[in-house]
This record gives sequence, C-alpha cells and structure tokens, in this order.
Amino acid sequence: MKTHVSKLKKSKILVTGGAGYIGSHTLVELDLAGYDFVVYDNFCNSSKESLRRVSKLINKNILFENGDIRDSEKLQQLFTKYNIEHVIHFAGLKAVGESVETPIKYYDNNVNGTLVLLDCMKKNNCKKIVFSSSATVYGDPSSTPIEEDFPLNPTNPYGKSKLFIEEILRDVFISDPEFKIVLLRYFNPVGAHVSGTIGEDPSGTPNNLMPFIAQTAVGKREFVSVFGDDYNTHDGTGVRDYIHVVDLAQGHLKAIQIINNITEVLTLNLGTGNGYSVLEMIKAFEKASSKNIPYKIERRREGDIASCFADPSYSFEVLKWKATKTLDEMCKDSWRWQSNNPNGYK
Ligand code: UD1
Repeated sequence: MKTHVSKLKKSKILVTGGAGYIGSHTLVELDLAGYDFVVYDNFCNSSKESLRRVSKLINKNILFENGDIRDSEKLQQLFTKYNIEHVIHFAGLKAVGESVETPIKYYDNNVNGTLVLLDCMKKNNCKKIVFSSSATVYGDPSSTPIEEDFPLNPTNPYGKSKLFIEEILRDVFISDPEFKIVLLRYFNPVGAHVSGTIGEDPSGTPNNLMPFIAQTAVGKREFVSVFGDDYNTHDGTGVRDYIHVVDLAQGHLKAIQIINNITEVLTLNLGTGNGYSVLEMIKAFEKASSKNIPYKIERRREGDIASCFADPSYSFEVLKWKATKTLDEMCKDSWRWQSNNPNGYK
C-alpha cells in the first residue's frame, strides 16, 4: 500500500548541493521547464538565503532537506519521502588549495559522499544521475581546444576526486547498464542570474578570477593580482573558457531531458569554445561596470596552466545545447549581482 501511494507522488529531481552557485541557477531553469525538485544541502559552503531568493524568483516554495551527502540514513529518509527519479549531484568541496592541505577531507566529502549517494540510489531503484565534473580533470592539456577523449591528468586532490567519481560512475554502469549517467565537465563558470538576486558568494578571499575582479570593482579589494604575464598566450596572461552560469544551468536541464535516451555513460564538456585572457577579462569587466579595475602583475600561481578551453561540439551534437551568452553579459550580470549584494548573501 505504502509503495503504491509513493508511486502516485509526482516524481522529483533530487538536487544535491542545490543551494550553491551552479545549483541555485539550475533550480531556476528546472522550474521554468516544469520539473519538480527537492534540494539536499548541508550549507557548509552555501546559504539558505540563496534558496529563499530562488523561491522568490520562481514564486514557489522550495522543498529542501538539510543534510550531509555522507549521511546514508538521512538520504534514505529522503528517498522514502519523495519519489525521486533523477539526481543532479552538485554537492562537493571545490577549493583547489584547501584540497592540497586536507586531501582526506576532500576524498571523504566528494568520493565517499558520492558512494553513499549511489548506494542509496541503487537501493531505491533510482538510476539516473547527472554529475558535476570539471575541466580540471584534463590537467595541463597538450593542445586546445580540449575534446572529451583527451588524456585525464588532474594535478590536485580536488581534481582527482572528480576523476575518481567519474571512474566510479563508469564502473557502476558496467555493473548495471540500467544506470543512465551524464558527466558534465564544466569550464570556468561566471556571471549570475539576470535579476541580480542570486550569484556566486565565495567564502573568504575568492580563489577564482571573476569574483576577485567583481570585488575589486565594488571597492572591497584594492587591486587584482594577475598571476603571471609570461605564459605562451596572446598577451602572456592565462587563457580560460568562461561560461555564463545560466548557460551552464541550461546544459543540466538538457542533460535531464535526454537522459532516458542514452545507452552509455555520456561525458560532455560544458564550455563556450572561446578563450579569454586575464587582461581581457579585466578590460571587459571595466567596460561592463564602468569602474576602473586596478591590477598588478605578479608571479605565476603554482599549478596554473597557460590555456584551457573547450571543444563544445560534442555537447552541441548530443544535447542540442550551446552557450549563447556573451562575455559582456557575463560581466554585466556578475556586476549586477556584486553591486546589489556587495556582501553576497550575508
Ligand atoms: C580553478 C581551479 C580549477 C577549478 C576552477 C573552478 C586552480 C589551480 N584551478 O581553475 O580546478 O575547476 O577554478 O572554477 O585553482 N587568476 C589571476 N588572479 C586571480 C585569480 C586567478 O590572475 O586572483 C588567473 C589564473 O592564473 C588563471 C585565470 O585567472 O589564468 C582563471 O583562474 P581561476 O578563476 O582560479 O580558474 P582556473 O585556474 O581556471
């Protein structure tokens, strides 16, 4: 009887880490497309305020449960309570430097957390998962643009945790081909929802370039440190594939929409295919914000690579998706979020 009742419940997407930067933007796109979801997050690196803001944007209450991805009992309660058909798995730690200092914590959260989740999914016969991987799994590529079948060589525990999870998911598929698995390798997410109400809210000093530029533009930081101008790139500074977070969120939606049709583990780059240098990013942000952004050239950051950008053609072929937002939109939207919320969600 109980099973029968639960089958009647409308199916939902479980979004782990749904309060985070990419997760919160994905919730908006899922809602727009008519999907129901439940968020599972322990808010260790995110805030409930992001969910309140999403709730306002979509004009609906958001179902969420506060819990850790490694807590199998809590996860089981969630699967019992809701009819979960898909999982989008964002929950994880993501600071490269911290991962070098505390690898056990990173492997426990990211790898062990995913194992607990997969075990629970399997026990509850939920077999569709979209996983947040990262272009960091490629390490220093021998050439650009990067295709999905390039060698994988992450250089730090964070990146390795992403690769290990990818490998685990491939083995899960081999053992049970009913699983439908999409691995999304993100390039460099930037920007914010056009409303300026949700965006990236890094705790402490940002590690990534875009939040650092935005905080400098708003006056929270004196200048941007440009990590090296002697790379083999067109202006000597590092080149990356910056992708608007709303484009990225729509990539997840497309993955959910095609997941029933896949017959093998699908591995996709989510990038634009364009590479911009650090100096180009600073200039573009100055233009979008009409602010002067002071910068200083400093030494290279250890572990950085010269150039990294995607070949997004396979994603286009499979998902019928491509990033459409321009660099100017990325900067304008980041600026709107930063200037409206100089202290993030606090
Ligand atoms: C970083 C992570 C990567 C992660 C990605 C997620 C490292 C080594 N890599 O990638 O694993 O998946 O973020 O967003 O941390 N830069 C400056 N000044 C700054 C910050 C960055 O000049 O204050 C430069 C960097 O040298 C690089 C570019 O800006 O050339 C982008 O840096 P960042 O935003 O940290 O991203 P990645 O290094 O590509």
